[in-house]
Amino acid sequence: MAEFRLPKNARVEPGRHYAGSAAGSGKSKNLRRFEIYRWSPDDEANPRMDSYDLDLEHCGPMVLDAIIKIKNEVDSTLTFRRSCREGICGSCAMNVDGVNTLACTTPIMEIKGAIKIYPLPHLPVIKDLVPDLTHFFNQYTSVEPWLQAEETESDRERFQSIPERQRLDGLYECILCACCSTSCPSYWWNGDRYLGPAALLQASRWLADSRDSAVDKRLDKLDDSFALYRCRTIMNCTTACPKGLNPAKAISEIKRMLATR
Ligand code: SF4
Ligand code: F3S
Ligand code: FES
Repeated sequence: MAEFRLPKNARVEPGRHYAGSAAGSGKSKNLRRFEIYRWSPDDEANPRMDSYDLDLEHCGPMVLDAIIKIKNEVDSTLTFRRSCREGICGSCAMNVDGVNTLACTTPIMEIKGAIKIYPLPHLPVIKDLVPDLTHFFNQYTSVEPWLQAEETESDRERFQSIPERQRLDGLYECILCACCSTSCPSYWWNGDRYLGPAALLQASRWLADSRDSAVDKRLDKLDDSFALYRCRTIMNCTTACPKGLNPAKAISEIKRMLATR
């Protein structure tokens, strides 16, 4: 019988355990376990899962609060990104309980049992919960995410009607957290050439802008069997988006524009 094994260095091993007494009051009955992926480029060791028992009586309500408490009070080597703590910056995106999401807007109480936390999947890891987003942001840059309007003699603003402005709703709110792209199987396997739902939603945002005059140029660039058409309508992206956006719909709108121009 064929036997499949992961490469040795890909195997996640059991790590250190930090008991409740180290991570909280020790007497609390309200302990929760957080199992967190750890990997450092500074040694040759395999990744490991460290576990921390936290006293929720002395912890904020969100998963990010717990991670910050661990960093501040238990294990200062734990590495992660965060900034705004209110779902605006996108930097705390990680995989919590099997779901790509923002740690700062995910309530601890909505998760049953031990809370497993990994970095966003299918990206190179820089350290612990910090993925390398260089390629992701290069792809974002490639859709030229800025207004390209014709020169005008007027010194007035470029007005939009209310319906024109409304066409941007559901697109401009994207915070580039990468939860969608890293939940897309097509992006997992073809992310080198497939732009993925985040970059394509951003492309759609500029295609929808009534003030932009580079529509044809933008569509020409997207008309590619990999860059756009590797979307197979799997819809994980829309399920994953913590801002409630619909990248799958944005992608289908680009396809419609290409088919009907
Ligand atoms: Fe994040 Fe949603 Fe934007 Fe994707 S579409 S990058 S999941 S905010
Ligand atoms: Fe992927 Fe979303 Fe398309 S999950 S295949 S980008 S609909
Ligand atoms: Fe900014 Fe979570 S810290 S979105």
